[in-house]
Amino acid sequence: MMRAAALAVMAALAGLAGPHALAEASAPAGRFDGYSGRQLYERFCASCHGSSGLGDGPVAGSLRVMVPDLTRLGRANGGAFPAERVRKAIDGRSVYPVHGTRYMPVWGQELSVEQGGDQAAEAEVARITDKLVEYLRSIQQ
Ligand code: HEC
Repeated sequence: MMRAAALAVMAALAGLAGPHALAEASAPAGRFDGYSGRQLYERFCASCHGSSGLGDGPVAGSLRVMVPDLTRLGRANGGAFPAERVRKAIDGRSVYPVHGTRYMPVWGQELSVEQGGDQAAEAEVARITDKLVEYLRSIQQ
């Protein structure tokens, strides 16, 4: 009897803690806000573009196209890192392929859906993309 009462109290406490903890966890921060640009890159990009960005990730060989070397984007653009173009390439939603299929995932779409597709999700997608662009800027050779 005592034991059952104690369990009931614990259950009630857990019930109280539950919603509170949830509200805290889903506050303004998005799921990937704790990730650095490097960590985001490792998670979403390295499989194709390679750990160092050279285009030699484990999946690259099974694609029908060359995976670009991301360490030379600045050089290929006359020395200036093309941040806006890179941002659009990653997001992908405003890029219409001139010829053929896009092989890289449309990250803007993928990430937005994964985060719930609402306005907060869009804001997080923008933060993730910013971090990725800055990370790519930092690995230019
Ligand atoms: C499934 C393999 C794959 C993954 C994963 C991938 N990419 Fe790509 N990426 C490509 C391919 C292939 C291209 C060349 C364009 C195309 O065919 O889609 C490309 C093109 C690009 C370009 C354009 C380069 C240029 O010359 O303008 C950028 C920037 C880029 N990727 C960054 C990223 C970032 C950042 C990530 C992670 C968020 C990522 N990619 C994940 C395969 C991939």
